[in-house]
Amino acid sequence: MEAEEGNKVMRVPCVKDLAKEALSRVPDRYIHAVDIDPIVCNSPSSPQIPVIDLSNLLSCDHHVKEAEVHKLHLASQQWGFFQVINHGVREDLVEKMKKGVKELFDLPMEEKNKLWQKAGEMEGFGQMFEVSEQQKLNWVDVFYVFTLPSHLRNTRLFPNIPLPFREDLEEYSVEVREVARKILGGMAEALGMKKEEMKESFGEGGQSMRINYYPPCPQPQDVIGINAHTDGTALTVLLQVNDVVGLQIKHDGVWVPVLPLPHSFVVNIGDVLQIITNGAYTSVEHRAIINSKMERISIATFYGPGREGYIGRQRAFWAQKSPRCSRR
Ligand code: OGA
Ligand code: NI
Repeated sequence: MEAEEGNKVMRVPCVKDLAKEALSRVPDRYIHAVDIDPIVCNSPSSPQIPVIDLSNLLSCDHHVKEAEVHKLHLASQQWGFFQVINHGVREDLVEKMKKGVKELFDLPMEEKNKLWQKAGEMEGFGQMFEVSEQQKLNWVDVFYVFTLPSHLRNTRLFPNIPLPFREDLEEYSVEVREVARKILGGMAEALGMKKEEMKESFGEGGQSMRINYYPPCPQPQDVIGINAHTDGTALTVLLQVNDVVGLQIKHDGVWVPVLPLPHSFVVNIGDVLQIITNGAYTSVEHRAIINSKMERISIATFYGPGREGYIGRQRAFWAQKSPRCSRR
């Protein structure tokens, strides 16, 4: 497509619109040459990612708390992924977010255009990490936005997000940051790391959101929603907006689907946290596959160090103190 002033040079099509056309064949740009590996782990008895109860992690009862810290430690070492229940984010706010993101992707094209990615920017509607016209694209529409701290928001994009969704997004981002911080506090405890050491790594912290809309596709085996990747951030808190299965994680060499659990978040460790923890916790590969009949929507909230955060391998805190939980 022609480069328009202010628009991304390589503007990608809206996949939601593509999916609406009665395509006899998916366009080549979306057909991935390698077959999606078969999912080996797909029976109801297959292992599922661990579940962490955040209210236990914050419990005043020492034994309850210790047991949950230990569970969190094992989940972070062995899976890099877990689902979090009793997370404390208000249910009505979660519901407003679910409604809001559906409406966002349902906006007419003229409205979406106002929020489309600009040249050299990642924020807004579009796809991420596309660098050439030849590159294969993912079967997804993304809305990416920097959320916290609020003074670093994109002043050309953020104020144009329609209301009331914008206000719900603001509130949700603060609540989800709390969830991330509480989990990081639990991890610091499990690792025998001083809370200040973890805080020093993050500083004020920085947060962004990637809202993923995966339209259905008649050739689900040939396309991919998101290629296998690890998250570059410290902690990702993902809300599965509807009950359609699509997220898969690599565990012991096989792809394990993450089955949506009501009232939960899927949390995973990103590259930065792997570094901060000297590799004790792992940033695990994951991907999203496409359903032939149903759309799928997710909201990934990425939390990581802010501008003044300090990232490096921690001094050997293992050696200084004995960790509260034993290492693998
Ligand atoms: C991501 C991601 C998975 C999903 O946005 O980084 O991995 O289920 N999303 O949408
Ligand atoms: Ni991811």
